[in-house]
Amino acid sequence: MINIGIIGCGRIFNKHLSAIKKNKNFNLSAICDVDANAFKKLGKLDVNFYLDITKMVNNENLDMVTILTPSGLHYKNFLKVNQSVKNILIEKPLTTNSTHAKKLYELSRRNKNNVFVVMQNRFNKPIIALKEILNKEKLGKVFLTSVRVRWSRDEKYYNLAKWRGTKKDDGGVLFNQAAHHVDMMTYLNGPIKKVTAFKNNFIVKNINHEDTIVAAIKFINGSIGSLEVTVATRPSDLEGSISVLGSKGSVEISGFSMDEIKHWNFYKKYKKPHIKSHNHIYGIGHVQLYREIFKAISNEKNIAPTVKDGYENVKLIEKIYKSTK
Ligand SMILES: NC(=O)c1ccc[n+]([C@@H]2O[C@H](COP(=O)([O-])OP(=O)(O)OC[C@H]3O[C@@H](n4cnc5c(N)ncnc54)[C@H](O)[C@@H]3O)[C@@H](O)[C@H]2O)c1
Repeated sequence: MINIGIIGCGRIFNKHLSAIKKNKNFNLSAICDVDANAFKKLGKLDVNFYLDITKMVNNENLDMVTILTPSGLHYKNFLKVNQSVKNILIEKPLTTNSTHAKKLYELSRRNKNNVFVVMQNRFNKPIIALKEILNKEKLGKVFLTSVRVRWSRDEKYYNLAKWRGTKKDDGGVLFNQAAHHVDMMTYLNGPIKKVTAFKNNFIVKNINHEDTIVAAIKFINGSIGSLEVTVATRPSDLEGSISVLGSKGSVEISGFSMDEIKHWNFYKKYKKPHIKSHNHIYGIGHVQLYREIFKAISNEKNIAPTVKDGYENVKLIEKIYKSTK
């Protein structure tokens, strides 16, 4: 049994709680949040509660810690637990800058921590089907990979917490909303060689970063792609999608969080998998993520996203921002 302590019990907490409850190998022992009200709002939970991270890791016998604090605090909170807890899961993005991501990556290797990052969309069934098709080269020569994140986040959303909409702790739309989609481009089509991007703040007033960014991308394998991310879609979310076009066919995974097969078309017929869309912005991949983490902890073959994946993701997002005109 893996005893877990969770740090931060805000909006994403329930996704982790229900994933832990659905995995018999995990047990939630303790929660830490600097805000006691955040814990109270969860209702009755049979766990120990702490206001201080160090106290929690010193008092509890934890096998794993899950960090769900604002993104800009991930690195600082990692440093409070990495000496005493072996397994650490960090919500996306790993950090909001590559200096912290590099240190986190190096420290975790030196201390032999197992560090994982949440990339739950990798476990969406349509993505698994597309990955298989790509591995078997059934799409032929891939030449175009495009991502569209057309979501709606208004002033009310950014007022939910002080860290939201700040460059330091939120990081901007690529770190906060599109970290998954940037990861998906490289997960499916390999590393990126070159990028040129444009960004602007068009609509959302109470944030100090862009609300929209568009990038043209060249992959190391020679193919090209585009990335379009906005939180200024009005009045509501439109899509979170990825399409991959190859010489033998084309696939588009759409819905709000890349969970619905919108287009599945090949010269040679490959049966379109029947997959029910879950229609939730955070998806349902957290359950599978914890399963994969358990396999990793047990030294079994697994596809849990690692600290290296998180580090590469942060470096790439920074590279896209640096390329903005
Ligand atoms: N995987 C996904 O799809 C997904 C979705 C939403 C959020 N997230 C990520 O999860 C993280 C949290 O997001 P959220 O929406 O739950 O934020 P939130 O603001 O709702 O919750 C954060 C919680 O952390 C607590 N906190 C802050 N500093 C702390 C500290 N030092 N020690 C302990 N607790 C502390 C806050 O009091 C708050 O309760 C972010 O990194 C975000 O990017 C991921």
